[in-house]
Amino acid sequence: MFHRSVLVQKVLEFLLTADDGVYVDATIGDGGHTLAILNAAPKATVIGIDSDKSALETTKERLKFFGKRLELVHGDFENLDDIVLGQLGYGSVDGVLFDLGLRSVMVEDRFRGFSFKKPGPLDMRFNTDETLTAYDVVNRYSPEDLERILREYGDVRGARKIVEKIVDARKKTPITTTEQLAEIVVAGLPQRVHTDVLARVFQAIRIEVNREFEKLERGLYAALEILRPGGRLVVISYHSGEDRIVKHFMATESRDCICPPGLPVCRCGHKRQIKILTKKVVRPSQEEIKQNPRARSARLRAAEKL
Ligand SMILES: C[S@@+](CC[C@H](N)C(=O)[O-])C[C@H]1O[C@@H](n2cnc3c(N)ncnc32)[C@H](O)[C@@H]1O
Repeated sequence: MFHRSVLVQKVLEFLLTADDGVYVDATIGDGGHTLAILNAAPKATVIGIDSDKSALETTKERLKFFGKRLELVHGDFENLDDIVLGQLGYGSVDGVLFDLGLRSVMVEDRFRGFSFKKPGPLDMRFNTDETLTAYDVVNRYSPEDLERILREYGDVRGARKIVEKIVDARKKTPITTTEQLAEIVVAGLPQRVHTDVLARVFQAIRIEVNREFEKLERGLYAALEILRPGGRLVVISYHSGEDRIVKHFMATESRDCICPPGLPVCRCGHKRQIKILTKKVVRPSQEEIKQNPRARSARLRAAEKL
């Protein structure tokens, strides 16, 4: 089963401006959005990037029919400008899509350690060439850093208590599996909160392992570098922290002056680079959510390069 792509029609509506354009799918995953782009714009080319090698294997096979219209690159979208301008030699592109987060198959694969519902190693890397794993975060981070991560990336209530339990446990023996971690996290908590707390804790650790927020910010600025004037940027996020980064980026880059309020004259000299196309964030319909519950938290924002 392929990952079920979210908000496909909206992506096409905001992203496509030229039938023969060059589009970057910065998170190609199983290639669902790219498939829709290549079908909707019959002369278009897509550069598909993913940091997870297994995604590229799936997509290569799934979309082989499109031949040279699809170029696949194993890489990180934080280096989008180097990949597209440097490595591939393009001058600019017509659109960039980010569909953040992870694919359903990554969650299902217990050996990757993303799910608290499946026994597996504490890994959680999107890119298995990277060295930092969930094991390192859980066993080596200071209690202060762990608490900050749980609060900032997971909005975890009672983060300090949870960290105390983790620190007590790891003093005795390293925490190596998802099952062990889950057991430690929920110890002493009422059953009714288990799923919510575990989802938040695991999400927070995953965000840290993959430096997701930092990479997103860099990726958005890299996208600006490669878009031609009139080119489109479309971002789908699934986490309020991600959406905040996208919203802030778009608000900042669509304004001329970004000086702190109250200054009599502008000192920053900042010039706006984009026009926001989605005055209100775009959400999936009830019908889409019914068909694909994972779409529930999706939020799409789009902008046009000036
Ligand atoms: C939600 S999935 C994309 C699904 C895809 N749009 C589809 O229709 O099949 C997100 C993908 O982004 C990839 N990813 C996450 N962070 C990345 C990064 N910093 N650079 C490149 N790819 C990344 C993940 O490995 C995953 O395959």
